Amino acid sequence: MEIKSIGNLKSIRYEEAGKFEETRFEKIHNVLVPNSREGSIRVAKEIYELIIDKQLNNEECVLGLATGSSPIKVYEELVRMHKEEGLSFVNVVTFNLDEYYPMTKGNIQSYYYFMHEHLFNHVDILPENIHIPDGTVSNDELHEYCIDYEKAIEEKGGIDLQLLGIGRTGHIGFNEPGSHYNSETRSIILDYITKVDAAPSFLGIDNVPRKAITMGIRTVRKAKRIILMAWGQNKASIIKKTIEEDISSKVPASYLQQHNNTTFILDIEAASDLTRINTPWLVGPCVWDEKLINKAIIWLCEKTGKSILKLIDEDYNDNGMSSLLADKGSSYDLNIKMFNKVQHTITGWPGGKPNADDTSRPERATPAVKRVLIFSPHPDDDVISMGGTFDRLVEQGHEVHVAYQTSGNIAVSNYEALKFVEVTKSMSAKNDMDLINKIVNDIKSEKENEVDSFEVRRLKGIIRQCESLGATRYLGVSDSNVHFLNLPFYETGSIKKNPLGEEDVKIMCNIIKEIKPHQIYAAGDLADPHGTHKVSLDALFEALKILKPEPFMNDCWLWLYRGAWQEWDINEIDMAVPMSPDQVLKKRKAIFFHQSQKDGVMFQGSDIREFWMRAEDRNTKTAQKYNELGLADYEAMEAFVRWYF
Ligand code: F6R
Repeated sequence: MEIKSIGNLKSIRYEEAGKFEETRFEKIHNVLVPNSREGSIRVAKEIYELIIDKQLNNEECVLGLATGSSPIKVYEELVRMHKEEGLSFVNVVTFNLDEYYPMTKGNIQSYYYFMHEHLFNHVDILPENIHIPDGTVSNDELHEYCIDYEKAIEEKGGIDLQLLGIGRTGHIGFNEPGSHYNSETRSIILDYITKVDAAPSFLGIDNVPRKAITMGIRTVRKAKRIILMAWGQNKASIIKKTIEEDISSKVPASYLQQHNNTTFILDIEAASDLTRINTPWLVGPCVWDEKLINKAIIWLCEKTGKSILKLIDEDYNDNGMSSLLADKGSSYDLNIKMFNKVQHTITGWPGGKPNADDTSRPERATPAVKRVLIFSPHPDDDVISMGGTFDRLVEQGHEVHVAYQTSGNIAVSNYEALKFVEVTKSMSAKNDMDLINKIVNDIKSEKENEVDSFEVRRLKGIIRQCESLGATRYLGVSDSNVHFLNLPFYETGSIKKNPLGEEDVKIMCNIIKEIKPHQIYAAGDLADPHGTHKVSLDALFEALKILKPEPFMNDCWLWLYRGAWQEWDINEIDMAVPMSPDQVLKKRKAIFFHQSQKDGVMFQGSDIREFWMRAEDRNTKTAQKYNELGLADYEAMEAFVRWYF
């Protein structure tokens, strides 16, 4: 079953963003597309046309190619065009941007492997026309090898079209910050952030090679046409720097400002920090709907360092918001309206306050006791992201269920697993010993980058289940209300997951039908680097679509939490649940039950803090921001967005 992605959850959507023209802030031509799929098809079409054009003139078509996640769908589309539309690659010559060093061709992490897997093995390109920097050349020969690579490009008349992705460091190819404008093909030391980003596919940062061979900035600049693709929120900040700030060796992609035939293809998340998208009132006239007004006033408070009720007309006028005053009245009226709106998001009663007037509360007062279903993509997201709210819901007498969507088994290290299985071994009866010995042997004999055996994965899943039960018991939930869904899409044993399938959605439907919840909480946290949260949310949305006609769904509200990787912006929040200092500690203890994820996890990301620290920091910051806006001074706050389906 093919399941469409939900698109983005940002407050500005593609259709709205499309209304804004490229602006004086932007120094590189860019095109916004609704999603990476449409963007990739557009890029593939341009390549198609170039190849055909060259064929008609009996010429070779020289392509500069990139690896990574960004171009995957372009290659998929080119393969489709070859198979279904007869596009031939016989006149195509390719030069890849880069390769890890040292790196064998057979290694599944090599770019050699990547390119053959995604493109070359499926089209009729001539093997002699494929050029990928060779990660096996000896150190002594490396310098000469790079000069020859450069010459080979020249001999083919230069690159006609260069495809690029962009790293969070601003690298293109592996030209990391500090790369010179005139650099050519060479070896380079990888930046720490680049290694962090590559760590999941190498199963840990220590396995990522230190070096790479890369085409230089000058090599890329000489291409006749350049297309850079960026997808997803993780790229938003570097895209803004590249497109809007001055050229700097600190952001090597910014050198492209001086190339006269470059286009950036961006999805709305990657473009979301551009001035025209993020703060359109600084750019020109805009349509002041409620969402934009909220965003602009919160922004204005941050900009001026004032609380909402202290803003004056002059602040609005001086910061590009005079048209808002003209449209909607005085700053006094706007301030009061905004202040009330933010104040009404705050509640200590996330399940609704019984017998209270609920007209301006985020949740309904009735039914007083609600059935609540918390979906947690991994076995610890519930307590990390909403441990305080979870605690309140239980204490306030609601029937709280938790459903852990995936086993989370790949995030348990072999050290942890060995510890548990050896404890079990020392306590086990004779008849269990075969299985236990097998697991011990599997772990001890496992090679680097090898997928765990089924039994080891099961053990790791059980470790995480037991940790979750520790936390839910601590919060007062009975074991019968804790559900482990083990969605099949996750069970590959590796970082790359299966696409969402019918079975996943069926399992989600069943649990919702069984509980008939008045409230569902789910992770809307799309910056999760491995995409598990996003797929888990897609699974929920698909299930909700199917269940919508059921009468019980009329009473079901969906609240999205964040927190493990990022937090909602203040202007997006519909419900903010304050926590006392004691509740903050209680939440921290609940997170501590997830011992296999403590003290440095397998997939750390670029934030080196433990999850409880990140969560506490985000919750404290949300409370501080509310206070800075002129609202009460709380210790911490968890934030939710209501999602209408
Ligand atoms: C790949 C390359 C890199 C990537 C960049 C983005 O050949 O040279 O510059 O394009 O790291 O990677 P993804 O696309 O995985 O986000």
